[in-house]
Amino acid sequence: MSKFYITTPLYYVNDKPHIGHAYTTILADVLARYHRIMGEEVHFLTGTDEHGQKVQEAAANRNVDPKTHVDEFVVRFKELWEKLHINYDDFIRTTEPRHTDRVKELLTTLYEKGEIYADEYEGLYSVSEERFVTEKEVEEGDFRQIKKLKEKNYFFKMSKYQDALIDHIENHPEFIKPETRKNEILGFLRNPLNDLCISRPKSRLSWGIEMPFDKDYVTYVWFDALLNYITAIGWGKDETTFQNWWPVNYHLMGKDILTTHAVYWPTMLMAAGLPLPKSILAHGWWMNEESKMSKSLGNVVNPLELIDDYGVDSVRFFLMRDMVLGMDANFTMESFIKRYNADLANDYGNLVNRVTMLIQKHFDGKIPESGDYNEIDLELIAQAKITPKSVSKLIQELKIHDALETTLSLLRKINRYLEAKAPWKSIKEDSTPGSSAATTLALSADVLRIGSQLLNPVMPEKTTAILKILGAGNIPLNETNIVLLTPGSVLGEGKSPFPRIIIE
Ligand code: MSP
Repeated sequence: MSKFYITTPLYYVNDKPHIGHAYTTILADVLARYHRIMGEEVHFLTGTDEHGQKVQEAAANRNVDPKTHVDEFVVRFKELWEKLHINYDDFIRTTEPRHTDRVKELLTTLYEKGEIYADEYEGLYSVSEERFVTEKEVEEGDFRQIKKLKEKNYFFKMSKYQDALIDHIENHPEFIKPETRKNEILGFLRNPLNDLCISRPKSRLSWGIEMPFDKDYVTYVWFDALLNYITAIGWGKDETTFQNWWPVNYHLMGKDILTTHAVYWPTMLMAAGLPLPKSILAHGWWMNEESKMSKSLGNVVNPLELIDDYGVDSVRFFLMRDMVLGMDANFTMESFIKRYNADLANDYGNLVNRVTMLIQKHFDGKIPESGDYNEIDLELIAQAKITPKSVSKLIQELKIHDALETTLSLLRKINRYLEAKAPWKSIKEDSTPGSSAATTLALSADVLRIGSQLLNPVMPEKTTAILKILGAGNIPLNETNIVLLTPGSVLGEGKSPFPRIIIE
């Protein structure tokens, strides 16, 4: 069975989760669910990044010690994932011993091999980024607080791997996606790569993993957090599990943290003698009314409020449908409601009601028996057969928005098919088994079943309800067979779970 290992970034527990966190996690969940229905063995990892300055400061602001703070905040993430129906296989916290022990072991090994060395360094230090920055970066970037610092620190020989990394990126077109981001990283690597400062003196930062070879220092938060992708799957402890999943298929993240994943992380893996990830995927940002969401602007969309008002599945659907992977997307309430009403309430929901109501009324609530197919029937069957294949190809290419559009166009096709065959008219003359109306409704219900199964990874709850209404509980999604709803099987109770949103 082919294997699929996918990860989200580990979120900082310094604040409430927002729509950006929700997006990456839903994206990972949707991909994991699609790969599961495609018959693959899937491992989906998420978690929290609990060390470092940001978390230490957040705890200090609340007057609690960091451990109490992280224990309280991790719950908010876990609760949100539960509410969003995120079906992860593992949740790692960087404060867990299964992680910290392995980080220390790697640090010791790399120190003994001479891959990590101590040096006195004087330079410009960015408080917000928690790292030394170059003068060029200061000129070009927006660093709020810069200090001049001179101190002893430990460095990882990242520069040594620059050429090997460039080679790897150039020879593996799948390594960094999308292409534009790959080119950005290659551009970045045209300048000499410095060694990476991977320690912080405890006088400045105490909340971190202690350097095993120097008790006065803790580990730089990224050199700690990135390792979660291997510590969580048993690296250094359970070799079989580790070999089963590594290398990862996809590391998902926003474009702002691509450099750490596409430069620091691969060089760390090279130093550890491990294979590199198959693919690193950077998505764009969700903007609010065209501007960046930020706490100071007060325009951060809270996913919990949206769920409470409109349901989990419509939020999942909107986020997947309206962002082209790799590009920024705009979040507005207007576009959310428009999308919901057009695609879910109209094209999908009304169709469910139309088909099930006719079957209830004229066929005693049982799937009717089909007769011979005519040309119009065969046209619908052809599209129904090809859609699962197209969807699975689009998912492999990470074109989720297109996969959704392809599925919706199958649903729209059923609507047109119904208009063309008008079973509500022919039923008056003949509603016997095998009649035109019987065939039309049996076929519509079955194609609706296929569409619902294809939408299931994005809207697990609502499509399951619809599949129940169609009496299609456990039919596997089979690419070649159609009309799997057995004639005579009884429809479930209920109406479309997508009522129209009326704006006052
Ligand atoms: N802790 C690090 C990641 C360590 S991974 C080993 C971190 N955490 S974070 O909580 O600040 O951010 C996590 C993710 O949220 C990033 O992928 C970031 O791109 C994403 N987003 C934050 N705001 C966003 C939007 N407005 N839109 C989309 N994603 C955004 O960085």
